[in-house]
Amino acid sequence: DDAEKGDFPHYMLKEIYEQPQSLRNAMRGRLSRDEGTAILGGLNMTPQELRGIDRIILSGCGTAFHAAMVGEYVIETLARIPTEVEIASEFRYRNVPADKNTLQFVLSQSGETIDTLAALREARRKGIRCLGIVNSVGSTIARESDGGCYIHAGPEIGVAATKTFTSTVTMVTLLGMLFGRIHHLSSADGLEMIDELEAIPDKITSILKQADKIKAIAEKHANAEGMLFMGRQANYPVAMEGALKMKEISYIYASGHPSAELKHGIIALVKPDMPSVFIAPDDAVFDKNVSNIEEVLARKGPVIAVTTEGRTELERLTKDVIYVPDCPSYLSPLLTVIPLQLFSYYTAVARGCDVDKPRNLAKSVTVE
Ligand code: G6P
Repeated sequence: DDAEKGDFPHYMLKEIYEQPQSLRNAMRGRLSRDEGTAILGGLNMTPQELRGIDRIILSGCGTAFHAAMVGEYVIETLARIPTEVEIASEFRYRNVPADKNTLQFVLSQSGETIDTLAALREARRKGIRCLGIVNSVGSTIARESDGGCYIHAGPEIGVAATKTFTSTVTMVTLLGMLFGRIHHLSSADGLEMIDELEAIPDKITSILKQADKIKAIAEKHANAEGMLFMGRQANYPVAMEGALKMKEISYIYASGHPSAELKHGIIALVKPDMPSVFIAPDDAVFDKNVSNIEEVLARKGPVIAVTTEGRTELERLTKDVIYVPDCPSYLSPLLTVIPLQLFSYYTAVARGCDVDKPRNLAKSVTVE
């Protein structure tokens, strides 16, 4: 056990640090510079069939559900195909309209989650083509789906998903690129996206170098009564994922919200022992996030901010600023989630929690 963890005290930390490599593995052999697009042979679909798709449904549970929410944003941005997320556990209890041009993906690192498997079976019963985005090779979802892609993240032992989140997000980004190129993106657009994607692993490495700073911020807030996580656009699901990680391993109650929802109720919770984590990279909504940060500070709520290198003005508002490198906004979740993983990890360690095996949780839930 210890040998497998190498120099890391916990699997979760090891898996957080594996992300530059696990993302390279997710992309390997799937980016064509000749064609300026993603090549995903496992979809088992002809170019004509892919071109006919006019609606996409993404389903998953827990962290995979958050990856699906990022996917909705990325696929709609890159491919302009209406995409929606149906949480897997609800899918079969709803009657979701779909026709022959709808394509569904079920996202599951284990490939065994019963709710996600049930969504897959219900989709196939209705004649919806349903593909898997899965980590475990040969798992039930991989076997029963009409095709799909393995994320190749390697085994994830820590109960709190980390590297499988970023690899699944990478895969839905490749889908966005593939569908975008089929419809309206040029090969030059595709090449630019390949360059940006291939730059992500080294950018993650540079974020990991700030671990000591993130640890200090986590220790400062480790006795908080609760935490709020806020972001906009594709960083709204990252806020939800940051809150889920915090709940899962540190047992601090946390919730993730779109920043603008602050004034629709959440602001009532703001107080000195309720820190707010803002994911506020340098994007089209940066100034809006800054206004929300000011609203929290005015009510004596501590603020931890994740922003883009160079946006040093946030240091005038709070000491707890964590920087991520610049990237296009559709790729931002791949960077902004890294500090949140480390933040929850160091908070849990400071509170003496069993990081790799949190109470009441299973790595894969195979009963409904
Ligand atoms: C469990 C785990 C979560 C995970 C979810 C979905 O609830 O505790 O961390 O995100 O299952 O797992 P899957 O294997 O389907 O991705």
